[in-house]
Amino acid sequence: MAYYFNEPSHTFGEYLLVPGYSSTDCIPQNVSLKTPLVKFKKGEESSLSLNIPLVSAIMQSVSDDNMAVALAKEGGVSFIYGSQSIENEAAMVAKVKNYKSGFVTSDSNVKPDSTLAEIVDLKEKTGHSSVAVTEDGTPNGKLLGIVTSRDYRITRMDMSTKVSEFMTPFNELIYADANITLKEANNIIWDNKLNMLPLVDRDQKLKYMVFRKDYSANKENSSELIDSQKRYVVGAGINTRDYAERVPALINAGADVLCIDSSEGFSEWQKITIQYIHKNFGEHIKVGAGNVVDRDGFLFLAEAGADFVKVGIGGGSICITREQKGIGRGQATSLIDVVKARDEYFEKTGVYIPVCSDGGIVHDYHITLALAMGADFVMLGRYFSRFDESPTNKVNINGSYMKEYWGEGSNRARNWQRYDLGGDKKLSFEEGVDSYVPYAGSLKDNVTISLNKVKSTMCNCGALTIPELQKNAKMTLVSSTSIVEGSSHDVMLKDNTYNTQQ
Ligand code: IMP
Repeated sequence: MAYYFNEPSHTFGEYLLVPGYSSTDCIPQNVSLKTPLVKFKKGEESSLSLNIPLVSAIMQSVSDDNMAVALAKEGGVSFIYGSQSIENEAAMVAKVKNYKSGFVTSDSNVKPDSTLAEIVDLKEKTGHSSVAVTEDGTPNGKLLGIVTSRDYRITRMDMSTKVSEFMTPFNELIYADANITLKEANNIIWDNKLNMLPLVDRDQKLKYMVFRKDYSANKENSSELIDSQKRYVVGAGINTRDYAERVPALINAGADVLCIDSSEGFSEWQKITIQYIHKNFGEHIKVGAGNVVDRDGFLFLAEAGADFVKVGIGGGSICITREQKGIGRGQATSLIDVVKARDEYFEKTGVYIPVCSDGGIVHDYHITLALAMGADFVMLGRYFSRFDESPTNKVNINGSYMKEYWGEGSNRARNWQRYDLGGDKKLSFEEGVDSYVPYAGSLKDNVTISLNKVKSTMCNCGALTIPELQKNAKMTLVSSTSIVEGSSHDVMLKDNTYNTQQ
């Protein structure tokens, strides 16, 4: 007879935290969100920790090098998507490791014979108003001029006007050598009252841009996550097929941590992959594994040597696995079950394996709930996809700005390595959708607000650290009626909607 779990499985939205005693030093400024990323022995510290408990999902529409830099600046880690060629993934990792804070690779570039219409389009797409005019239209081509919004007037000029006619040409620009320091670049910016300084090499090829507006941002990242050589920390997704070639390429590029990206991790494929990596490349190469949703899955991956374990099947916002295949489990119940196994495993072996709750975070408070339930960090896809730094297009849909967001199991991603169970190397049906999400602005602004909420709730629970929250949190399941009570109700909102509880 089949095995039946006793309880129905629950989602985050069905739980609330009950406040605990908080002393006067329990204020958000005193809260530390530091949390282990990889396993460690009792009495020791994890060799790799996060400064904030957030990692970005291993997805084409979420985690590229740009996202990785933005998130590492705030103290988290991105896992660069693995559903691309080994060379491209390794190149993205190398870009993060070689990134020089404040030195930006130009993302808006045109050729001199491009038109004003193209400039306007580009500005709409990227939101950036400084456009480099390079000989071949690439970010590192020979710099011929710069266009900013001061160089043209849409109302007075023909949209077919060539860029070469209104750009500020190279000989009138203030520029500097690509080898100067950030401090020197900032001095030139201040002395000359510039908004942006282009940096070129000896052949006049554009290398970077340094922006005045980034000056304070580059100074104030106290929680940025850097390695011993002051380079940003970055993760990379791998699969259970081409690890023998992909892993060394990613290690050479400088990846700090790897994660097997799979929709279902309780499988011999994962064990073979983890053991191959540890045996051939060394125990110091850190590999997360998953996803699992119960005790048995966790214990299997722990024994296989996983450095962290990811939890969640079917709860992702773009995920249709549960409808398509009838597998999965409510995210909260999965997490609680796995965390219990993790704590027992720690008790028994003295090895602590961090748990990552992956997918299904809808509200900021779900992050706090996941941590309170015992997750050490959470992985988010939809959340990060909405920001400027995600790799996807920003589009205007009926007057509202949206970003594109698609699942790794959608036809668009073609990530058969994640879903095909060893047969014909293709997706035989979709497990994810292609969608839009509301554009939400910069990563920094959003993460700051979300984490202020997390810290504030931690204080209400009397916790100044994540381990204290995990130990002391009190949680209650809520009834469907009390969920209604939880949002504004029985008042007429000033935008004329009436919320009634009845
Ligand atoms: P979200 O934060 O709720 O959007 O969930 C993101 C998570 O969904 C990812 O980290 C993956 O674990 C999972 N995921 C990504 N693509 C797919 C898909 O196409 N189908 C099912 N799950 C997916």
